Formats: sequence, C-alpha cells, structure tokens
Amino acid sequence: MADQNTTSTTQTWTHRWTFVLAAAGSAIGLGNLWKFPYMTGENGGSAFVIAYLVCIVLVGIPIMMAEAALGRRGRHSPINSMRGLAKEAGVSRMWELVGWVGALSGFLILSFYSVIAGWAIAYAVDMFSGVFQGMLPEQVEQSFEALALDPVRMSIWHGVFMAMTGFVIARGVHNGLESSVRIMMPALFILLLLLLGYSITETGHFMQAVEFMFAFNLDALTEEALLSAMGHAFFTLSLGMGAIMAYGAYMPKKASIARTIGIVAVLDTTIALVAGLAIFPLVFANGLEPGSGPGLLFVSLTSVFAVIPGGQIIGGLFFLLVVLAALSSAISLVEPLVAWVIERTPLSRLAATVVYCLMVWLLGIGTVLSFNEWSGEEYQIFGMTFFESMDYLTANITMPLGGLLIAIFAGWIMKRAHIAREMNLSSGYFNLWRALCRVVAPAAVLIIFITNISD
Ligand code: TRP
Repeated sequence: MADQNTTSTTQTWTHRWTFVLAAAGSAIGLGNLWKFPYMTGENGGSAFVIAYLVCIVLVGIPIMMAEAALGRRGRHSPINSMRGLAKEAGVSRMWELVGWVGALSGFLILSFYSVIAGWAIAYAVDMFSGVFQGMLPEQVEQSFEALALDPVRMSIWHGVFMAMTGFVIARGVHNGLESSVRIMMPALFILLLLLLGYSITETGHFMQAVEFMFAFNLDALTEEALLSAMGHAFFTLSLGMGAIMAYGAYMPKKASIARTIGIVAVLDTTIALVAGLAIFPLVFANGLEPGSGPGLLFVSLTSVFAVIPGGQIIGGLFFLLVVLAALSSAISLVEPLVAWVIERTPLSRLAATVVYCLMVWLLGIGTVLSFNEWSGEEYQIFGMTFFESMDYLTANITMPLGGLLIAIFAGWIMKRAHIAREMNLSSGYFNLWRALCRVVAPAAVLIIFITNISD
C-alpha cells in the first residue's frame, strides 16, 4: 500500500501494555457502568446476564481477536486496512464497506453516548457542589427527571463532552490517549470496589442482588433478551465498527493478540459485573425499580452519595471517573474515521476533528429531545424514541453486521497462513479460534438476527 500516505499509522504504541490500556479504555465505558446495569434490570436479571456472558465468550472474544488481527495486518485506518486486505486476498474492493459500516456505527453511537456522558458531567459538578447532600431517594429521582426534562441544560453538557473528546483527538494518539488511560482506569476500578464494599456491608440487600443477577433461570430468557445480550456484548467490547481494528493497527508485531484481547475482555466483564453488584443492592434497599431504564445509575448511586459521610467528594470523584471512562471510549469512536480523513483528504487532523464533532453534536440533539419534547408517540419510529432507535440500530443491527463481516473475512476470506501468522497460536488454540470465528460466531449472529426480524 505504498501509494497511500501513512501518517496516522506508521506510529506504534510506545509500550507493550499500551494497547491493552487503550483497548480497555475503549471497551470500558458507559456500556459497563450505565448500560449494563439498566439493561440487566430491564431484561429481568440473571437470564440476561448469563446470555451476555455466553455471547462474550463465544462471539465477542473471537471477533475481537479477528478485529485486532485485521488491524495489525492492515496497518491503516479500518477503511483502508480492509481495502488493502481485500486486495491481498484477491477479493472485491466491496469489503471496504466493512469500514464504512463501522464509521456509520461510530457516528450514530457517539451521538447518544455523548448525551449520557453529559449527564455524568452534570452530576460530577452538582455532586462536588453539594446539590445532592441530604436528599431522599425520591428527591434524587425527581432531580434526575428534572434534568431529563431540560433540553437546554442537556445540550450544553453534551456539547462540553464533545468538546473534550475533540480536544483529545486533535492532540493526537500519543499525547492525548495514552497518558489519560494510564491513570484513569485503575482509579475507576478502586472506586467501584469501594462502592461494592459499601453495598455488601451497609445495604443488607447484597444477596438479593446476587440472586437477581446470577440465579440460574433460563425460563426467563426471551428472544428479545437474547438479542439485547448479543448487542450488548458487541457494544461493551467496542466490536464491529473498527475501533479495535484501528487500535490493532498501532499494535507491535510481537504482542500476542490472544493474550492481550483476553485481558481486555476479562477486565471489561469484571467491571460490568462489579458495577451491577454495587448498584443493585442500592436499588433494592431504596425500593427503586430495577427496570426503570437509563436513569438507573444516576438515581441509585446518587441516593447513596447523598447520605454517606464524605458523599459529596466521593460522589463527585465517582462521576468524574465515569466521565473519563466515557471519554476514553468516545475517542475510539472518533479515531477510525478521523484517521481515514487524514489519510485520504487534504484536511488536517484539527479540521477533521472539529467538523466531525460538530456533526455528532447536532445529531445528539435528537437524543436530547427524546427525553422531553420528542418523547411523545407522534415522534416515535417503530415505537421507539430517537434515542432508543439510535441505540437499537447500532447495538442490534450495524455492530453485529460489522462483526459478522469481520468474522467471515478473517475466517473464510483471508489466507490461512496470513491470519495464522497474526494469531501466532499453537495449532490446537488456533483451530479452536478459527472454528468459533468461521462457524459459531457467524451462526449465532445470524440466528439471533433472523429470529428477531421474523417477529
Ligand atoms: N465499549 C464502550 C462502552 O462500553 C463503548 C464504545 C466505545 C464502543 N467504542 C466503541 C461501542 C466502538 C461500539 C464500538 O462504553
């Protein structure tokens, strides 16, 4: 691919752990802290959690390995990597579409992701300034509703978050990305463990939460919960849109893909489960509704911070870390497309970033309005608000579709010797991965897709 300008991809991560940190930074985000708990609540608890874990192991990890391998072999932004790899394999340039589907997913996801991250900024600010101190759980719930009903306030915080994202992207991968994830991720994990400790010792409802999340109850598993679980596995591991491919392109040749991806997936899953185990005891102890939807994280934890000693500081720190976790994920939603624009057009990184972030902000206004002006039925598409349809379209359609194509490409199209060299596994493990990638993962995605569409 000597004909292409390679400015964005000749760099590699400065340290062998940096890929792990950056990929973990992408994977760990609002998906773990905000979306996983509320989806578990809405889909009835353990049946969803079990389906999610199965999807992570059988579908998520094999596809994540494939994505990293394609990125590292392609060494460009996802769109150009796919083009180069298709050429190498002697197949149609149409495979470049995988990169485009990914770019579209990233754009749509970020538009609502940023609105929720904006809530977290608002909460960090209010928490530090003591707004919630002494509030009862009902009052906390009302104040969340007040935020959701205020489109102007939401649009401003959503804009602040997009500006933060743009700032990091504009500074470039090294300065912007690496330094931030190194400190943030461990800090977030420690704070979550502290909250878990509180939930175990102080609420008296810890076992009820464990049962809610883990009791073996496959009767409760509906097709819809299965689709949501698979969609969430894609969402939480940042799959099917090129984010992992883009980071894989910066990965040193020597690093083991299986080991690094394994570590990232375990970290990601652990954080989601710990978040659930910290949040649900509070939900039950305060008589809140587990299925109450996107406000769950904001209401449950905030009602604890409102009453515990030092809650003002601890709560402020917690939401600050949520914002930072969201930021390291948002970056990975922007980077693939910006990298492509720089490779292909005369635009500078700064200009590409500014234009892109503005467009995302505008689309995000649709999500902002979904909670207030546009919450009525006359604004719904297939019975979903704008926010819900963005979420549904990406998690249940474009990401699994991207993942399916990536699995087929890595499993069936690429020369065995090429993919084997990237994986660098003993033949037993390689064959296991290949079977998952060629058959199990595509079949699972297709079956779940088709049963859902036929309903
Ligand atoms: N994985 C992130 C989370 O759980 C969200 C995310 C970041 C993402 N980059 C992505 C999702 C790429 C899909 C694709 O919060």
